[in-house]
This record gives sequence, structure tokens and C-alpha cells, in this order.
Amino acid sequence: MSGCAGAQSALDPAGEEAAAVYTLFLVMVVGGALIWLAVVGLLVHAGRRRETPWSAEKAGRLIVWGGVAFPVVVLVALLAYAVWLMPAIRPWLARVAPAPETIEVTGEQFWWRIRYPAIDGMAGFETANELRLPVGARTGFSLKAADVIHSFWIPALGGKMDMIPGRTNTLSLEPTRTGLFRAPCAEFCGTSHTLMAFSVVVMEPDDYAAWRRAQAGGNRPGAGEGERLFAYHGCAGCHGVRGVTAPASLGPDLTFFGQRQTVGAGTLANTAENVARFIRDPAAVKPGAKMPAFDMLPQEDIAAIAAYLVGLK
Ligand code: CUA
Repeated sequence: MSGCAGAQSALDPAGEEAAAVYTLFLVMVVGGALIWLAVVGLLVHAGRRRETPWSAEKAGRLIVWGGVAFPVVVLVALLAYAVWLMPAIRPWLARVAPAPETIEVTGEQFWWRIRYPAIDGMAGFETANELRLPVGARTGFSLKAADVIHSFWIPALGGKMDMIPGRTNTLSLEPTRTGLFRAPCAEFCGTSHTLMAFSVVVMEPDDYAAWRRAQAGGNRPGAGEGERLFAYHGCAGCHGVRGVTAPASLGPDLTFFGQRQTVGAGTLANTAENVARFIRDPAAVKPGAKMPAFDMLPQEDIAAIAAYLVGLK
């Protein structure tokens, strides 16, 4: 029952597509329950009555109507209903207007690369492991994979879509209320599959536009010792901080890292202690992570870098 509500529940929809999936689920459950009750009722009835055996003709009719016609009608009706729902779940099948913005999300072992396009005079930018969306507007997604198959799934907002290497899949979602949601990877992709999630923050359109502008602008340099050590120890070789370091894209972008909910793609709460723990030995937190351990660095340097990252707000 604990799965019925909260930030990662398909039974507590916060988007158009999730609402359609939820309705389909309810129809299936109620329909299935009614049919089950009818069958059990018939069984009880048949067990109680002692009657003369049925003629072959009467039994044949029961099989044709109850065993062939009834399931065919029910299944065709359910199929028709599900197909009718599909345009709401898969908007490329028409009916809804195309999304004004298409965000590119790439699944990597074991994190999410997120690229916002340039639109309406706002520059494009890259971020990671936290998606922000405007409420009441449709957003498109172009979904890719860098290594193995992953699956993009925001249960509260809509259905799943696989991310397949060498292929681009599309999906579009329309959130109907603001809030913070959680999206787990929905396809087994390696040792840390269960530690691969991202946060979704659905915002008011004005807040969203302000957030976008700030993101594209990047962080202001001059944050002190932690920033210097971040470059000195080579962190900036894999992780970019827009406005501060040269672009780097091997690992997750860390611009405005302090705004994110988690460290390690949904693994730990975003605190300086947890960031330091991750830097010291990523594989201890997240088996199979490609980032090497930096436990040879002086503890105070790790602490300074962690404090710097958490302070990027
Ligand atoms: Cu990525 Cu499972």
C-alpha cells in the first residue's frame, strides 16, 4: 500500500498521460473484478444445484457463448478502449499539439544526461540527474542511450519509454500539478540499475523560465578554495561547471549542483558529507560507477570540494 501515493506512484497521477494510464488501470481492475465475481457466482451456483445432466446441445451453447463469444467481446472492447487511449499516452499518434520544447535525455551507466534546447531567445544547456518542467505545458523528450538499454519512466507523469543505443525514441508529457517527483530507471542496465534515478521538479511557468535563464548563464566564478581544488585535482576534466570551467562532458554536468535533490543520480541526499563520501569512493556508494575513487586526496581537500559543489546554488 505504501506504493499507492508519494513521489513515485503511478496511482497518484500528476500528468495527462499518467491520468490516462490510471483510468485504464481502474477500468481493467473493476472489469476484472466483476467478471471474476460472475464466474465464482456461477461456480457456486453450479455446485449447489443438483439437476439432471444437460443435453449436449445446451452444454455446447454455454461453451460457445460463455467460453468463446464473451471473452472475444470483452477483449475486443478492452483493446478498442486501450487503442482509443493511445493518442493521449503517445502524442505522436496525433490529437495533441506538438510540444514547443524537446528535451534530450540520455541514459548512461548509471546516470542521466539532460540537454535543454535553445528556445525563445533562451540558450540551450546541459544538466544531469534532475529534470525541471513547466506545469500545464507539454514537453517533448528525445530519448537515447550511451551504452546499454535504459528506460525513462516518471510514474507520476506518464508511461515508460525505452532508451536504446543507436536509436532515438520520443515521448511527450504534460504535468498537471507542481511538485517534486522521482523517476527510476525501468530497465535492468547493470549493477547499479536500482541506484539510477532522477528527480523531477514541476514548476510554475515563470519560475521555470527564470530557472532556465539562470542555468544557461551558469555559475559565477570566484567561489574560493573549493573551486580552485576542483580544477587542481582534475575534477573539471570530466565534470563541467558552466561559467567556471571549460566544457567537459564525460561525467554529469555539475552546474548549480547545490540545487539538486540528490548526489549519485538518486542515491544519496545532497549534503556535503554525502558528496565527500561519493568523491572518496564512488563504487562503495554505487557499484559499477565509472568515476574512479579519489581517496588518495587529502581529506580537507575533499571536504572543500564537496562544500564548493553543495554551495553551487
Ligand atoms: Cu539504467 Cu536501469
